[in-house]
Amino acid sequence: MTPLAGSPNTPLEPPERHSTRQRTVSPSGQAARKSARIIGTGSYLPEKVLTNSDLEKMVDTSDEWITTRTGIKERRIASPEEPTSSLATEAARRAIEDAGIAAEEIQLIIMATFTGDVLMPATACLVQKNLGATRAAAFDLSAACTGFIYGLSVAKQFVLSGFYDTVLVVAAEKLSCVTDWTDRNTCVLFGDGAGAAVVSSQGEGPRIIGEYLASDGSIYELLILPGGGSLHPPTHQTVDQGLHFLKMSGREVFKHAVTCMVDGAQKLITQHNLSPQDIRLLVPHQANKRIISEVGKRLGIPAERIYVNIERYGNMSAATTSVGMDEAFRSNQFNPGDKILLVAFGGGFTWGSVLLEW
Ligand code: UT7
Repeated sequence: MTPLAGSPNTPLEPPERHSTRQRTVSPSGQAARKSARIIGTGSYLPEKVLTNSDLEKMVDTSDEWITTRTGIKERRIASPEEPTSSLATEAARRAIEDAGIAAEEIQLIIMATFTGDVLMPATACLVQKNLGATRAAAFDLSAACTGFIYGLSVAKQFVLSGFYDTVLVVAAEKLSCVTDWTDRNTCVLFGDGAGAAVVSSQGEGPRIIGEYLASDGSIYELLILPGGGSLHPPTHQTVDQGLHFLKMSGREVFKHAVTCMVDGAQKLITQHNLSPQDIRLLVPHQANKRIISEVGKRLGIPAERIYVNIERYGNMSAATTSVGMDEAFRSNQFNPGDKILLVAFGGGFTWGSVLLEW
């Protein structure tokens, strides 16, 4: 088996971009309608790197604490000139190029984010404009860190129903804008980035063979960005109270994160009559390396079959799984039939998983 780039203790630069996927159409010219495949992926990380030692100068923390408690060494921070739509557009361009299609062929753009450029219109519309995807409908999807999983699932339904042939799913976050840089409990955890996937009934690439989506709104307050909406419209007071920053009950979220991700992964493993040994690669949401290790342990999937890049990027919410999947595709050799399992959890609470077959 090829060693995994970015696996535990193997910090590597993001892999070179190269595509082995090619677009194909059946001899009759008719594309098969009964499968939804990921025919192209891409990701984009802003240039600026914020290291743990940089954070030591900003809040009362240490590289040692952050590394041992979270696994994070550094994260990317977008510039003031780079709103979320810019990160998303670049990741999307790379995915479209990888798929070997034209932007005009995209019929729907689903954008997973909670740090859109503005509250209205949807950031998906700005991405549509930037890409020149003139035939695409576009909407944002709000499922926090599980947004990419939800997005892939929605894309699959559109493709399988035959309503659309080609859907772009983009997950992008500029979490640095909603981070309280004076709060050491949260500011060490997050980063900015974007990942994208083209889902289509035509072309080659791993097939989406299963998905599982779940939510539990009864614990929504554990992870919340309270200000700026209709409950706490922005006022001087809400800004003074810091309600426009992400709030998290870390320990509680940790426990739910483990339970939810194990549940999400196990549901698909069971539904598809698989065993943990059948999972060639697990691509989990990256909120904390200890969460990932515990999930792997409970599922019985060893570290060498779990993709980890948290040391380089921290937690980028919905972008995390999309960037992880893109990097994992580029740095691994997969064989026909290999199963890849994506799993995530996040604010809502939402959680879920997607099973791919190469
Ligand atoms: O995708 C979004 C979902 N988010 C997550 O999944 C995050 C889940 N939670 C976590 O990853 C962990 O709970 C944290 C990394 C947020 C915190 O780790 P922990 O081991 O649960 O630490 P804690 O909150 O129990 O705090 C332990 C101590 C506290 O000090 P005292 O009260 O014991 O004296 C904190 O004040 O660590 C202290 N602490 C820090 N110390 C140095 C908290 N943050 C820091 C810090 N540097 N950055």
